[in-house]
Amino acid sequence: MTMPQDKTTLLKVLQAQPVMPVVAVASASEAVNLSRALVAGGLKAIEITLRTSAALEAIRAVAAEVPEIVVGAGTILTPKQFDDAEEAGAKFVVSPGATMEVLDAAKGSPAPLLPGAATPSELMAMIEEGYEVLKFFPAEQLGGVPYLKSLAPVFQNITFCPTGGISMANVRDYLALPNVVCVGGSWVAPKDTVSAGRFDEVTRLAAEAAALTA
Ligand code: 3PG
Repeated sequence: MTMPQDKTTLLKVLQAQPVMPVVAVASASEAVNLSRALVAGGLKAIEITLRTSAALEAIRAVAAEVPEIVVGAGTILTPKQFDDAEEAGAKFVVSPGATMEVLDAAKGSPAPLLPGAATPSELMAMIEEGYEVLKFFPAEQLGGVPYLKSLAPVFQNITFCPTGGISMANVRDYLALPNVVCVGGSWVAPKDTVSAGRFDEVTRLAAEAAALTA
């Protein structure tokens, strides 16, 4: 048995906004500008994914320069990535799935882990490890809102953060589910908008997302 998940710390981050912006950044300065734009729109956390070579440097810069936002690391696939993200200053860590190795790396870390799980067996395995707050990815492709609705009566203590295929067009349906704490999505910081430096537009999208009720 690994150490149980620090639900209190994690839920505090997730409950602070209905939408967690999931981003892949080109540079540390882009991440800092983006974080400031999100804060201006009312979002309180950002998940910087380890999908670009700038990710760790970006996490470090945002942690140091934008104290108004809670910076987390996403797309953590290996224990080394977990350790690197924690060392860079990530306050929470998100994984699309879960392996025993990644759960081991999370043991005793001040940065709580949000691991992904989807099938009933995966959920049961996570419960056995003391994890009850889970990512559900890729949400739309796995069955979306009806799928999460079907899980609710069976897995009564599980809370999800669904991501993947969510946008303003369907986000309200997710947020209306009692077993959803918030959703994750890249739509609040579209790649083209960010690389064009249109941070006012990011602030507008963030404000629209922040005004949703979870
Ligand atoms: C994630 O890692 O959570 C997803 O890639 C976000 O999915 P989206 O780009 O469909 O919002």
